[in-house]
Amino acid sequence: MEDQAVEFSLRPRYLAEYIGQSQAKENLKVYIEAAKLRKEALDHVLLYGPPGLGKTTLSNIIANELGVGIRTTSGPAIERPGDLAAILTNLQEGDVLFIDEIHRLHRTVEEVLYPAMEDYALDIIIGKGPSARSVRLDLPKFTLVGATTRAGLLSAPLRDRFGVVSRLEYYTIDELTYIVTRAADILQVHIVGEAAREIGMRSRGTPRIANRLLKRVRDYAQVRGDGIITLDIARAALKLIQVDDLGLDEIDHKMLRAIIANFQGGPVGLDTIAATIGEESQTIEDVYEPYLLQIGFLQRSPRGRIVTPQAYQHLNLPMPDRR
Ligand code: ADE
Repeated sequence: MEDQAVEFSLRPRYLAEYIGQSQAKENLKVYIEAAKLRKEALDHVLLYGPPGLGKTTLSNIIANELGVGIRTTSGPAIERPGDLAAILTNLQEGDVLFIDEIHRLHRTVEEVLYPAMEDYALDIIIGKGPSARSVRLDLPKFTLVGATTRAGLLSAPLRDRFGVVSRLEYYTIDELTYIVTRAADILQVHIVGEAAREIGMRSRGTPRIANRLLKRVRDYAQVRGDGIITLDIARAALKLIQVDDLGLDEIDHKMLRAIIANFQGGPVGLDTIAATIGEESQTIEDVYEPYLLQIGFLQRSPRGRIVTPQAYQHLNLPMPDRR
């Protein structure tokens, strides 16, 4: 199987198989059941949180649990209002429309979404100039599931139209260990408990990373060992791909070291850091920084990012005197 096909097969399809995010899961369970009892479309759902925590997976689960179809797209993919109109008019009653990266919707497209979300209606302008008039078209009742890495980037009118707002959290090591064990089972690879935990510990709270690391460790076990993932095999493989014992990779290291070496540990602005290490500010802010903040290696201040003493310690670097 291709990596992507494997990725797909690892995804849980129902809430009962979905590990972690207990708060979001419990809430969704109630709302889904209520919508089914009333034979109504589920209210619109906004899922937000760092990448790789299962927003796409959850949206598919919501559709499966409701027993409805799902249409998947993303903010930047919907270029014009007409594109969204075409999608909306093709939905079946009760369907889920999943819009990933919903914070990147064009303003003109977003405006089509408001009446669609609120009244299941599409307002179409017919004609031009003084004789132009607006015609309202009924849409099938549907559930919009929006996903974003940062809810703060959503416009207030859009955010306000979601009845359910769920923040996805980083997973615990126990949860990730379980996810790795489950994935190994699906991939039919033998893994010892300690190795599953080692991968879980180094996955920066993120199932997508856990599954990716598992696949790389599996490759290593097959080529350098006898196919069984032992703790030693897992550690050797992870060392080779430069993932440290907290799951920090090359880019995390590069970023922390750059702030320490060039800016005395900060504070330094995000764009300056980005330019220094040659990464996009957006990628740093969405992907790298949230986890470094979570584990207390980085702090945000009005004057920029600051590397904490814990990070110096982890990197084995001396703290500057002035601190
Ligand atoms: N694979 C990826 N994310 C998962 C999750 N939350 N539960 C179970 N398996 C997963």
